[in-house]
Amino acid sequence: MLTTNKKQKSWKITATKTIDYDVIQITSVFNPKNELLLTTAGNKSSKRFVIIDEALYEMHIDAIINYFKTHNITCQFLPIPAQEQNKNIDIFSLICKELDSYGIKRRSEPIIVVGGGVLLDIVGFVASCYRRGISCIRVPTTLMGYIDAALGIKTGINFNGYKNRIGSFSASVLNILDRSFFKTLPKRHVVNGVGEIIKLAVIKDAELFKLLENDIVKCINDKFITTGNEILKMAIQDMLEELAPNLFEENLERLVDFGHTFSATLEMHDISNLLHGEAVAIDICLSSSLSHIKGILRMDELNKIIKLINDSFLPTFHEKITPKLMWESIKEKKLHRDGFQRLPLPVVIGKATFVNDIKYDEVCMAIDLLKNLADKLDSAKKNH
Ligand SMILES: NC(=O)c1ccc[n+]([C@@H]2O[C@H](COP(=O)([O-])OP(=O)(O)OC[C@H]3O[C@@H](n4cnc5c(N)ncnc54)[C@H](O)[C@@H]3O)[C@@H](O)[C@H]2O)c1
Repeated sequence: MLTTNKKQKSWKITATKTIDYDVIQITSVFNPKNELLLTTAGNKSSKRFVIIDEALYEMHIDAIINYFKTHNITCQFLPIPAQEQNKNIDIFSLICKELDSYGIKRRSEPIIVVGGGVLLDIVGFVASCYRRGISCIRVPTTLMGYIDAALGIKTGINFNGYKNRIGSFSASVLNILDRSFFKTLPKRHVVNGVGEIIKLAVIKDAELFKLLENDIVKCINDKFITTGNEILKMAIQDMLEELAPNLFEENLERLVDFGHTFSATLEMHDISNLLHGEAVAIDICLSSSLSHIKGILRMDELNKIIKLINDSFLPTFHEKITPKLMWESIKEKKLHRDGFQRLPLPVVIGKATFVNDIKYDEVCMAIDLLKNLADKLDSAKKNH
C-alpha cells in the first residue's frame, strides 16, 4: 500500500507477505507415484535442477533419474561435498554459476535440494538470493534436517569465522520428510540430531523427555527407521509450535535458542571435529549448569539432563571450553539478541525462563560444576 503525503513530499510504503509452506512426512520420496516433487509455484514445467549431497549421489541417482523420466521432466544434477567446512560463499557462488548455465524459470521450476542441514542451509540461501528469490523444495536426509533445518525458514552460510553470519529468512515451498534416508546415515549423525530433540524436551516437553529416557538407545541403534514415531512427531510439533508464530524472529526471546548460546563459538573453534548437534548438547549441559548456579534449576533435574545427554552417546563437555571463550560467546549472542543476553535456561524439565544478568563469575562456576559432573561420568564409563 502506498500513502502519499503531498505537503511534506513524503511517501510511506507498507506491504505484507504471506508465508505459506508445507512440511510433509512420507515414505519413498523418489517413488514415481509420489507426485510431491512435481510441485511448482507456477505453471507446469518440464525442467528441474537437483542439488544433492555428494555422499548421496551414487546411492540415489538412478531412482531420481527414473522418477523424472517417468514424469517426462529433464533434470540436471549438481553434487556438492556438504560439510560444515564447505558451508561458505565459494559453494554459494558455485551453485549460482551452475544455475546460470542451466537456466531455470523463477517460479515454475523449483530447484530441489537433497541433503543434510548444511546443504539445506546453503541452497535455501541461494534460492532466496538468486534472481532475488526462486522457488525451492527441500528433502532432508539427516535427522538434523528432518527435525530442525527443514522445518523453519532460516537459511545461511558461515562467514568470517562466524557461524551462519550471512543468511536470510526465506521459506521453501515444500519440505518433504522421508526417514528411509536414515538407513545409510552413520550412527554419529543420528546421535547428532538427537541433540536438538533433547533441547526441545528440556525447554518445553517433559513428556518427550520421559519418552527419550525410556527409548533413546533403542531408537539410536535402529536409526529411527522403525522406532521413535512418537518421538519424531512430538519433536516436529514442538519445534513448529515455537517457530511458526515467530518465523522472522521479531521476538528475540526464543526458547529454541536454548543450546545455542555457547555452541556456535565452540563449533567454529573445532569445525573439523565437532558436529552441530554435539555442540548443542554441550551447550545444553553448560546452560543447565548455569541455571543451577543461579538457583533456578534443582541439582536432581540437572543430573537427569546430563544423564540423558550422556546416555544418548552425546558429549557433555569439551576441552576448548574456557571462561574467556564462553564469556565471548555470551557477548557475541548479546549483539545477536539486540543488546540483551536473553539466555533461555531450564526451570524444571519441560519449562524454561529467560535471563539477562549472567555474570562472568557465574560462567566460571558453571564450567567448574559441569567439568566435575562430566569427569564423574567419564570415570564411571571407564570402570564399567
Ligand atoms: N536453518 C536451520 O534452521 C537449521 C537448524 C538446525 C541445523 N542447521 C544447520 O544444519 C547443519 C548441520 O546439519 P547436519 O547435521 O544434517 O549435517 P550435514 O548436512 O553436514 O550432514 C552430515 C553428514 O552426513 C552426510 N549425509 C547426509 N545425509 C546422509 C545419508 N542419508 N546417508 C549417509 N550420509 C549422509 C553428509 O554428507 C555429511 O557428511 C549445521 O550447519 C546447522 O547450522 C540449520
